[in-house]
Amino acid sequence: MATMITLSRPAFFMILFLIVLLPSACRCADPDPLQDVCVANLNASISVNGFPCKPLPEVKSDDFFFDGLSQEGNTTNVFGTNVTSADVLAFPGLNTLGLSVNRVDFAPGGLNPPHIHPRASETSVVIKGKLLVGFVTTGNVLHSKVLKAGEMFVIPRGLVHFQLNVGKGKALFLAAFNSQEPGIVILPTTLFVSTPPIPNAVLTKAFQIDEKVISAIRSKLGS
Ligand code: GLV
Ligand code: MN
Repeated sequence: MATMITLSRPAFFMILFLIVLLPSACRCADPDPLQDVCVANLNASISVNGFPCKPLPEVKSDDFFFDGLSQEGNTTNVFGTNVTSADVLAFPGLNTLGLSVNRVDFAPGGLNPPHIHPRASETSVVIKGKLLVGFVTTGNVLHSKVLKAGEMFVIPRGLVHFQLNVGKGKALFLAAFNSQEPGIVILPTTLFVSTPPIPNAVLTKAFQIDEKVISAIRSKLGS
């Protein structure tokens, strides 16, 4: 006799996302693989564009499994968000496959600050809560929406984007990328707490602010 399985709403959307969206997210920005599997050998001494493959006899089913997105991230920080990455560095089975996933947790009011992925487009689905999401084109046009559970948004590669929790409680979304290592440039930290720092003369002129404002931003961002 057939058994009915009932799924909670978040679990339903999570499964929908993984089954339907993830494979189609791979309009590979990364180069195509030339073999079935190439589990990253993160410790290889040679350097290539990506990672060399682990020898085939050493490849195990566990290389294609990752449970690092199952836990809620700690959002106790200045932005009230936490990004957990399932990229090739965390999940070596993704090597050469041209895809990766992030889990982003939001405290109430939390912000995933304006940032860029230099190597990937991003498509995300909200699992829980309500998020204001947006990106800005190179023509300075903001495209923005408020999303709730099950709704999606896509961010073209290399454009500045953000997500803000505008719901009452916590929020959660999953983002898929067409790169095994999309990279991230977080504008506030890149500009204000780089090592070594960008000279004040650059920042005062760029933002039309005085040095006191720069020092205040730096100390809030932890430098
Ligand atoms: C969201 O924009 C993310 O990069 O995880
Ligand atoms: Mn992003």
